[in-house]
Amino acid sequence: MSKTVDINWGELGFSYIKTDLRYISKWKDGKWDDGELVEDNMLTISEASTALHYGQQCFEGLKAYRTKENKIQLFRPDQNAKRMIESCKRLLMPEVPVEKFIDACIKVVQANEAYVPPYGTGATLYLRPFIIGVGDNIGVKPAPEYIFCVFCVPVGPYFKGGMVPVNFNVADYDRAAPYGTGAAKVGGNYAASLYPHELAAKRGFADCIYLDPATHTKIEEVGSANFFGITKNNKFITPISPSILPSITKYSLLHVAKEYLGLEAEETDVFIDKLDDFKEAGACGTAAVITPIGGIEYKGKLHVLYSETEVGPVTKKLYDTLYGIQFGDIKAPEGWIVQVPDK
Ligand SMILES: Cc1ncc(COP(=O)(O)O)c(C=O)c1O
Repeated sequence: MSKTVDINWGELGFSYIKTDLRYISKWKDGKWDDGELVEDNMLTISEASTALHYGQQCFEGLKAYRTKENKIQLFRPDQNAKRMIESCKRLLMPEVPVEKFIDACIKVVQANEAYVPPYGTGATLYLRPFIIGVGDNIGVKPAPEYIFCVFCVPVGPYFKGGMVPVNFNVADYDRAAPYGTGAAKVGGNYAASLYPHELAAKRGFADCIYLDPATHTKIEEVGSANFFGITKNNKFITPISPSILPSITKYSLLHVAKEYLGLEAEETDVFIDKLDDFKEAGACGTAAVITPIGGIEYKGKLHVLYSETEVGPVTKKLYDTLYGIQFGDIKAPEGWIVQVPDK
């Protein structure tokens, strides 16, 4: 292993840091080029790019982890690749094949190996693949050209002082329409979430919970994470809906709950007025793995789940197990881990 760069890993948050190299591949005349690693972190694109005007872009987020044995591994990158293909289909963009996606991620990690935080710091190397529609175009139609890029940023452990529950309020706004783009990881969904997030933050909440856009009775997303709850009879429950982002962490937790913790686990409707069914709840996603939910404010009343200050025991076990799998301390299910070969 080469030496890591001189960063105070304990101080890392979730902020942009320019790393050495990023991967860029361009799509033109119906095909992707071979792609290359470049030093320049600036993109020069046409002022008429569809990504700028019509939101024709999508992105992904995944992490590289350094293990105790000083190996580097990716967690389920094939799932991110497949989700990006679905996002591309929805926005009429050319798909990046799974192998090309994983190869690009591996190249970027290898090229920036010195930025992969040491084992034991809880920090990781966050990878941000994205595709943007570029080229000269003014009408509302798919772009003539595309750029696929993967860059990386070392990020800190989400819970610096240990896992602390946070409170959420139920948004007055929708993040996605019933047959809209909620299930795709496209920038427009996130632009639409900035204002409701700001309103929640101003009132002291970590973020807001979005209900299903058709009936406003069922929980869909917790900010930019999926929801899960542990029922009073010890079932792991997570919402099912065509307008939530299919979270890779959520599907991993469904498996962990069943196969590692021996719980019943299912995707089903989660009604906002049935929060009493749950003894614990959390938000899950790549960044935090799990954020325990302290309370949820709905119609002016704060409904406390397990506790506003302590993490519930099942939530803690789920977190420890998934975190252990991601850092290589617990045996992963077949196919979940992709090793990054030494250069
Ligand atoms: C809206 C939204 N929901 C859920 C998630 C969690 O998805 P994943 O577990 O794949 O990171 C994310 C983060 O990517 C997200 O942006």
